[in-house]
Amino acid sequence: MNQKPKVYVAGHHGMVGSAIMRILQQQKQVNLITRTHKALDLTEQSDVRNFFATEQPDQVYLAAAKVGGIHANNTYPADFIYQNLLIEANVIDAAFRNGVKKLLLLGSSCIYPKLASQPLKEDYLLSSALESTNEPYAIAKIAGIKMCESYNRQFGKSHGIDYRCIMPTNLYGPGDNYHPENSHVIPGLIRRIHEAKVSNKSSVAVWGPGAPRREFLYADDAASACIYIMNLDSDIYHKHTHPMLSHINAGCGYDITIKELAETISKIIDFKGEITFDSSKPDGTPRKLLDSSLLNTLGWQAKTDLEEGIAKTYQDFVKNIYA
Ligand SMILES: NC(=O)c1ccc[n+]([C@@H]2O[C@H](COP(=O)([O-])OP(=O)(O)OC[C@H]3O[C@@H](n4cnc5c(N)ncnc54)[C@H](OP(=O)(O)O)[C@@H]3O)[C@@H](O)[C@H]2O)c1
Repeated sequence: MNQKPKVYVAGHHGMVGSAIMRILQQQKQVNLITRTHKALDLTEQSDVRNFFATEQPDQVYLAAAKVGGIHANNTYPADFIYQNLLIEANVIDAAFRNGVKKLLLLGSSCIYPKLASQPLKEDYLLSSALESTNEPYAIAKIAGIKMCESYNRQFGKSHGIDYRCIMPTNLYGPGDNYHPENSHVIPGLIRRIHEAKVSNKSSVAVWGPGAPRREFLYADDAASACIYIMNLDSDIYHKHTHPMLSHINAGCGYDITIKELAETISKIIDFKGEITFDSSKPDGTPRKLLDSSLLNTLGWQAKTDLEEGIAKTYQDFVKNIYA
Protein backbone atom coordinates (compact mmCIF):
# COMPACT_ATOMS: atom_id res chain seq x y z
CA MET A 1 0.00 0.00 0.00
CA ASN A 2 1.26 3.49 -0.86
CA GLN A 3 1.70 5.48 2.36
CA LYS A 4 3.24 8.58 0.84
CA PRO A 5 1.23 11.74 1.60
CA LYS A 6 -0.64 13.32 -1.32
CA VAL A 7 0.66 16.84 -1.76
CA TYR A 8 -1.09 19.44 -3.91
CA VAL A 9 1.17 22.22 -5.17
CA ALA A 10 -1.13 25.05 -6.30
CA GLY A 11 0.67 27.20 -8.88
CA HIS A 12 3.14 24.46 -9.85
CA HIS A 13 3.98 26.15 -13.15
CA GLY A 14 4.96 29.39 -11.42
CA MET A 15 8.46 30.35 -10.36
CA VAL A 16 8.19 29.20 -6.74
CA GLY A 17 5.68 26.41 -7.35
CA SER A 18 8.00 24.82 -9.93
CA ALA A 19 10.95 25.12 -7.52
CA ILE A 20 8.88 23.41 -4.79
CA MET A 21 8.05 20.67 -7.32
CA ARG A 22 11.73 20.15 -8.21
CA ILE A 23 12.68 19.62 -4.55
CA LEU A 24 9.71 17.38 -3.71
CA GLN A 25 10.28 15.30 -6.86
CA GLN A 26 13.93 14.83 -5.89
CA GLN A 27 13.05 13.84 -2.33
CA LYS A 28 10.55 11.21 -3.60
CA GLN A 29 8.70 11.19 -0.27
CA VAL A 30 5.31 12.42 -1.45
CA ASN A 31 2.82 11.88 -4.25
CA LEU A 32 2.33 15.15 -6.08
CA ILE A 33 -0.99 16.45 -7.36
CA THR A 34 -1.12 19.42 -9.75
CA ARG A 35 -3.54 21.28 -11.98
CA THR A 36 -2.67 24.00 -14.47
CA HIS A 37 -4.44 27.35 -14.19
CA LYS A 38 -6.36 26.41 -17.34
CA ALA A 39 -7.54 23.10 -15.87
CA LEU A 40 -8.53 24.58 -12.50
CA ASP A 41 -9.16 28.28 -11.97
CA LEU A 42 -8.74 28.70 -8.22
CA THR A 43 -11.03 31.74 -8.19
CA GLU A 44 -13.95 29.38 -9.02
CA GLN A 45 -15.27 28.12 -5.70
CA SER A 46 -17.28 25.13 -6.91
CA ASP A 47 -14.45 23.87 -9.15
CA VAL A 48 -12.01 24.15 -6.24
CA ARG A 49 -14.38 22.29 -3.91
CA ASN A 50 -14.91 19.54 -6.50
CA PHE A 51 -11.18 19.20 -7.04
CA PHE A 52 -10.45 18.80 -3.31
CA ALA A 53 -13.36 16.40 -2.85
CA THR A 54 -12.06 14.23 -5.69
CA GLU A 55 -8.33 14.35 -4.99
CA GLN A 56 -8.38 14.42 -1.16
CA PRO A 57 -4.84 15.79 -0.72
CA ASP A 58 -3.09 15.51 2.66
CA GLN A 59 -1.03 18.69 2.30
CA VAL A 60 -1.23 21.88 0.23
CA TYR A 61 1.43 24.37 -0.83
CA LEU A 62 -0.52 27.48 -1.87
CA ALA A 63 1.92 29.08 -4.34
CA ALA A 64 -0.75 30.19 -6.83
CA ALA A 65 -1.45 33.91 -6.83
CA LYS A 66 -1.82 36.94 -9.06
CA VAL A 67 1.75 38.27 -8.86
CA GLY A 68 3.50 41.27 -10.41
CA GLY A 69 5.75 44.28 -9.97
CA ILE A 70 4.92 47.90 -9.09
CA HIS A 71 3.55 48.72 -12.55
CA ALA A 72 1.22 45.71 -12.61
CA ASN A 73 0.05 46.37 -9.04
CA ASN A 74 -0.65 50.01 -9.88
CA THR A 75 -2.43 49.22 -13.14
CA TYR A 76 -4.53 46.24 -12.04
CA PRO A 77 -5.33 46.82 -8.32
CA ALA A 78 -8.80 45.28 -8.66
CA ASP A 79 -7.41 42.08 -10.18
CA PHE A 80 -4.76 41.83 -7.46
CA ILE A 81 -7.15 42.12 -4.52
CA TYR A 82 -10.07 40.17 -6.02
CA GLN A 83 -8.17 37.22 -7.47
CA ASN A 84 -5.86 36.77 -4.49
CA LEU A 85 -8.68 36.95 -1.95
CA LEU A 86 -10.69 34.39 -3.92
CA ILE A 87 -7.76 32.00 -4.45
CA GLU A 88 -6.93 32.03 -0.72
CA ALA A 89 -10.53 31.80 0.48
CA ASN A 90 -11.41 28.99 -1.93
CA VAL A 91 -8.30 26.90 -1.37
CA ILE A 92 -8.07 27.26 2.41
CA ASP A 93 -11.76 26.57 2.96
CA ALA A 94 -11.89 23.64 0.50
CA ALA A 95 -8.75 22.21 2.11
CA PHE A 96 -10.39 22.38 5.52
CA ARG A 97 -13.68 20.88 4.32
CA ASN A 98 -11.81 17.96 2.81
CA GLY A 99 -9.62 17.07 5.75
CA VAL A 100 -6.31 18.64 4.70
CA LYS A 101 -4.25 18.75 7.88
CA LYS A 102 -1.29 20.78 6.67
CA LEU A 103 -1.27 23.80 4.39
CA LEU A 104 1.38 26.43 3.67
CA LEU A 105 0.31 29.82 2.34
CA LEU A 106 2.90 31.93 0.55
CA GLY A 107 2.54 35.58 1.49
CA SER A 108 4.94 38.38 0.75
CA SER A 109 7.10 40.96 2.50
CA CYS A 110 4.78 43.69 1.19
CA ILE A 111 2.41 42.85 4.09
CA TYR A 112 4.59 45.07 6.30
CA PRO A 113 3.99 48.81 6.80
CA LYS A 114 5.74 51.18 4.39
CA LEU A 115 7.70 53.01 7.05
CA ALA A 116 8.29 50.22 9.57
CA SER A 117 11.77 50.03 11.08
CA GLN A 118 14.20 47.69 9.41
CA PRO A 119 14.80 44.82 9.37
CA LEU A 120 11.12 43.88 9.30
CA LYS A 121 10.11 41.60 12.15
CA GLU A 122 7.06 39.37 12.04
CA ASP A 123 5.31 41.38 14.76
CA TYR A 124 5.36 44.63 12.71
CA LEU A 125 2.35 43.28 10.80
CA LEU A 126 -0.63 45.69 11.00
CA SER A 127 1.32 48.26 13.03
CA SER A 128 0.86 51.15 10.51
CA ALA A 129 -0.08 52.06 6.91
CA LEU A 130 0.99 49.95 3.95
CA GLU A 131 2.85 51.08 0.82
CA SER A 132 0.10 52.43 -1.45
CA THR A 133 1.35 50.94 -4.73
CA ASN A 134 0.75 47.36 -3.61
CA GLU A 135 -1.81 47.86 -0.83
CA PRO A 136 -4.58 45.76 -2.51
CA TYR A 137 -2.19 42.81 -2.99
CA ALA A 138 -0.87 43.19 0.57
CA ILE A 139 -4.38 43.34 2.05
CA ALA A 140 -5.24 40.10 0.23
CA LYS A 141 -2.08 38.44 1.56
CA ILE A 142 -2.81 39.64 5.11
CA ALA A 143 -6.34 38.24 4.75
CA GLY A 144 -4.77 34.90 3.76
CA ILE A 145 -2.62 34.87 6.90
CA LYS A 146 -5.62 35.74 9.06
CA MET A 147 -7.67 33.01 7.37
CA CYS A 148 -5.07 30.39 8.21
CA GLU A 149 -4.85 31.62 11.79
CA SER A 150 -8.64 31.77 12.16
CA TYR A 151 -9.12 28.22 10.84
CA ASN A 152 -6.36 27.02 13.19
CA ARG A 153 -7.96 28.82 16.15
CA GLN A 154 -11.45 27.56 15.42
CA PHE A 155 -10.67 24.05 14.15
CA GLY A 156 -7.06 23.33 15.06
CA LYS A 157 -7.79 21.18 18.11
CA SER A 158 -11.08 19.65 16.95
CA HIS A 159 -9.88 18.76 13.43
CA GLY A 160 -6.11 18.54 13.90
CA ILE A 161 -5.33 21.17 11.26
CA ASP A 162 -2.10 23.14 11.18
CA TYR A 163 -2.08 25.86 8.49
CA ARG A 164 1.13 27.88 8.26
CA CYS A 165 2.29 30.99 6.44
CA ILE A 166 5.66 31.98 5.02
CA MET A 167 6.50 35.59 4.09
CA PRO A 168 9.27 35.48 1.50
CA THR A 169 11.20 38.58 0.53
CA ASN A 170 11.48 39.60 -3.17
CA LEU A 171 12.10 36.47 -5.19
CA TYR A 172 13.82 35.76 -8.50
CA GLY A 173 14.99 32.72 -10.40
CA PRO A 174 14.33 30.37 -13.32
CA GLY A 175 10.75 30.55 -14.57
CA ASP A 176 10.33 34.18 -13.53
CA ASN A 177 8.00 36.52 -15.41
CA TYR A 178 10.07 38.60 -17.87
CA HIS A 179 7.17 40.72 -19.18
CA PRO A 180 8.57 44.11 -20.29
CA GLU A 181 6.20 46.07 -18.01
CA ASN A 182 4.54 43.74 -15.51
CA SER A 183 7.61 41.94 -14.17
CA HIS A 184 9.51 42.39 -10.90
CA VAL A 185 12.78 44.29 -10.81
CA ILE A 186 15.32 41.48 -11.46
CA PRO A 187 13.61 39.81 -14.45
CA GLY A 188 12.67 43.27 -15.80
CA LEU A 189 16.29 44.42 -15.65
CA ILE A 190 17.59 41.16 -17.10
CA ARG A 191 15.32 41.58 -20.12
CA ARG A 192 16.05 45.26 -20.66
CA ILE A 193 19.81 45.01 -20.19
CA HIS A 194 20.06 41.88 -22.36
CA GLU A 195 18.02 43.54 -25.13
CA ALA A 196 20.19 46.66 -24.90
CA LYS A 197 23.29 44.50 -25.24
CA VAL A 198 22.10 42.54 -28.29
CA SER A 199 20.91 45.70 -30.04
CA ASN A 200 24.12 47.60 -29.19
CA LYS A 201 22.35 50.35 -27.23
CA SER A 202 24.59 52.75 -25.32
CA SER A 203 22.35 53.02 -22.22
CA VAL A 204 19.47 51.48 -20.27
CA ALA A 205 17.05 53.56 -18.19
CA VAL A 206 16.10 52.04 -14.84
CA TRP A 207 12.76 52.90 -13.22
CA GLY A 208 13.03 55.15 -10.15
CA PRO A 209 16.07 56.89 -8.65
CA GLY A 210 17.97 53.67 -7.87
CA ALA A 211 18.30 54.48 -4.16
CA PRO A 212 15.73 52.09 -2.60
CA ARG A 213 17.25 49.07 -0.92
CA ARG A 214 15.87 45.60 -1.57
CA GLU A 215 16.56 42.07 -0.43
CA PHE A 216 16.35 39.20 -2.90
CA LEU A 217 15.99 35.46 -2.40
CA TYR A 218 16.61 32.84 -5.07
CA ALA A 219 13.45 30.83 -5.91
CA ASP A 220 15.00 27.46 -5.01
CA ASP A 221 15.96 28.84 -1.59
CA ALA A 222 12.40 30.14 -1.14
CA ALA A 223 11.09 26.68 -2.06
CA SER A 224 13.43 25.01 0.43
CA ALA A 225 12.18 27.44 3.12
CA CYS A 226 8.57 26.54 2.25
CA ILE A 227 9.24 22.82 2.61
CA TYR A 228 11.23 23.44 5.79
CA ILE A 229 8.37 25.37 7.44
CA MET A 230 5.74 22.89 6.26
CA ASN A 231 7.69 20.03 7.86
CA LEU A 232 8.79 21.77 11.06
CA ASP A 233 7.89 19.77 14.12
CA SER A 234 4.55 20.98 15.44
CA ASP A 235 5.78 21.58 19.01
CA ILE A 236 8.73 23.65 17.78
CA TYR A 237 6.53 25.65 15.38
CA HIS A 238 3.97 26.45 18.05
CA LYS A 239 6.63 27.26 20.63
CA HIS A 240 8.03 29.97 18.31
CA THR A 241 4.77 31.43 16.95
CA HIS A 242 1.45 32.65 18.39
CA PRO A 243 -2.08 31.77 17.27
CA MET A 244 -2.61 35.35 16.01
CA LEU A 245 0.98 36.01 14.93
CA SER A 246 2.02 32.85 13.18
CA HIS A 247 3.72 33.83 9.91
CA ILE A 248 7.46 33.34 9.41
CA ASN A 249 9.77 35.56 7.33
CA ALA A 250 12.16 34.11 4.77
CA GLY A 251 14.97 36.19 3.30
CA CYS A 252 18.66 35.99 2.57
CA GLY A 253 19.52 38.51 5.32
CA TYR A 254 21.04 41.39 3.32
CA ASP A 255 19.82 44.08 0.94
CA ILE A 256 21.35 46.17 -1.86
CA THR A 257 20.32 49.36 -3.69
CA ILE A 258 18.55 49.08 -7.03
CA LYS A 259 21.57 50.88 -8.51
CA GLU A 260 23.93 48.20 -7.19
CA LEU A 261 21.54 45.54 -8.45
CA ALA A 262 21.45 47.05 -11.96
CA GLU A 263 25.25 47.21 -11.99
CA THR A 264 25.51 43.57 -10.86
CA ILE A 265 23.12 42.46 -13.62
CA SER A 266 25.04 44.56 -16.17
CA LYS A 267 28.25 42.84 -15.13
CA ILE A 268 26.72 39.34 -15.39
CA ILE A 269 25.24 40.10 -18.82
CA ASP A 270 28.46 41.86 -19.85
CA PHE A 271 26.64 45.02 -20.94
CA LYS A 272 29.18 47.77 -21.51
CA GLY A 273 26.70 50.69 -21.80
CA GLU A 274 25.53 53.18 -19.18
CA ILE A 275 22.74 52.62 -16.62
CA THR A 276 20.60 55.73 -16.07
CA PHE A 277 17.85 56.28 -13.49
CA ASP A 278 14.39 57.67 -14.31
CA SER A 279 13.29 59.51 -11.15
CA SER A 280 9.84 60.28 -12.63
CA LYS A 281 8.81 56.63 -12.13
CA PRO A 282 7.54 55.30 -8.75
CA ASP A 283 10.17 53.76 -6.53
CA GLY A 284 8.06 52.10 -3.78
CA THR A 285 9.15 51.56 -0.17
CA PRO A 286 12.57 53.09 0.64
CA ARG A 287 13.93 49.93 2.19
CA LYS A 288 12.70 46.37 2.52
CA LEU A 289 14.81 43.92 4.47
CA LEU A 290 13.23 41.06 6.37
CA ASP A 291 14.37 39.97 9.79
CA SER A 292 14.63 36.23 9.12
CA SER A 293 16.23 35.44 12.47
CA LEU A 294 13.27 33.33 13.57
CA LEU A 295 13.60 30.98 10.59
CA ASN A 296 17.40 30.99 10.95
CA THR A 297 17.03 30.05 14.63
CA LEU A 298 14.69 27.25 13.60
CA GLY A 299 17.49 25.88 11.41
CA TRP A 300 17.00 27.24 7.85
CA GLN A 301 19.46 29.46 5.93
CA ALA A 302 19.50 30.74 2.34
CA LYS A 303 22.25 29.10 0.28
CA THR A 304 22.45 30.97 -3.02
CA ASP A 305 24.62 34.05 -3.36
CA LEU A 306 22.96 36.90 -5.34
CA GLU A 307 25.50 36.90 -8.21
CA GLU A 308 25.30 33.12 -8.54
CA GLY A 309 21.49 33.23 -8.50
CA ILE A 310 21.30 36.02 -11.09
CA ALA A 311 23.77 34.20 -13.35
CA LYS A 312 21.59 31.04 -13.22
CA THR A 313 18.47 33.13 -13.84
CA TYR A 314 20.10 34.85 -16.82
CA GLN A 315 21.02 31.44 -18.29
CA ASP A 316 17.36 30.41 -17.92
CA PHE A 317 16.22 33.64 -19.62
CA VAL A 318 18.57 33.19 -22.58
CA LYS A 319 17.72 29.48 -22.97
CA ASN A 320 13.96 29.52 -22.41
CA ILE A 321 12.68 33.03 -23.01
CA TYR A 322 14.95 34.79 -25.43
CA ALA A 323 15.90 31.77 -27.56
N1 LIG B 1 7.83 36.67 -7.12
C1 LIG B 1 8.12 37.28 -5.98
O1 LIG B 1 9.00 38.16 -5.91
C2 LIG B 1 7.41 36.92 -4.71
C3 LIG B 1 7.85 37.50 -3.50
C4 LIG B 1 7.23 37.16 -2.32
C5 LIG B 1 6.17 36.28 -2.34
N2 LIG B 1 5.74 35.74 -3.51
C6 LIG B 1 4.59 34.84 -3.45
O2 LIG B 1 5.01 33.54 -3.84
C7 LIG B 1 3.93 32.89 -4.51
C8 LIG B 1 4.42 32.38 -5.86
O3 LIG B 1 4.88 33.50 -6.62
P1 LIG B 1 5.61 33.30 -8.01
O4 LIG B 1 6.59 34.39 -8.13
O5 LIG B 1 6.02 31.89 -8.19
O6 LIG B 1 4.41 33.65 -9.00
P2 LIG B 1 4.15 33.14 -10.48
O7 LIG B 1 5.42 32.70 -11.11
O8 LIG B 1 3.34 34.19 -11.15
O9 LIG B 1 3.26 31.84 -10.24
C9 LIG B 1 1.95 31.94 -9.81
C10 LIG B 1 1.21 30.75 -10.35
O10 LIG B 1 -0.15 30.84 -9.93
C11 LIG B 1 -0.97 30.54 -11.04
N3 LIG B 1 -2.27 31.18 -10.90
C12 LIG B 1 -2.53 32.51 -10.84
N4 LIG B 1 -3.86 32.71 -10.73
C13 LIG B 1 -4.43 31.48 -10.71
C14 LIG B 1 -5.77 31.03 -10.63
N5 LIG B 1 -6.79 31.89 -10.56
N6 LIG B 1 -5.99 29.70 -10.65
C15 LIG B 1 -4.97 28.82 -10.76
N7 LIG B 1 -3.68 29.18 -10.83
C16 LIG B 1 -3.41 30.50 -10.82
C17 LIG B 1 -0.22 31.06 -12.22
O11 LIG B 1 -0.68 30.47 -13.41
P3 LIG B 1 -0.66 31.33 -14.80
O12 LIG B 1 0.75 31.82 -14.96
O13 LIG B 1 -1.09 30.34 -15.80
O14 LIG B 1 -1.62 32.44 -14.57
C18 LIG B 1 1.20 30.67 -11.87
O15 LIG B 1 1.48 29.35 -12.26
C19 LIG B 1 2.79 33.89 -4.58
O16 LIG B 1 1.90 33.68 -3.54
C20 LIG B 1 3.48 35.21 -4.40
O17 LIG B 1 2.61 36.15 -3.82
C21 LIG B 1 6.34 36.02 -4.69
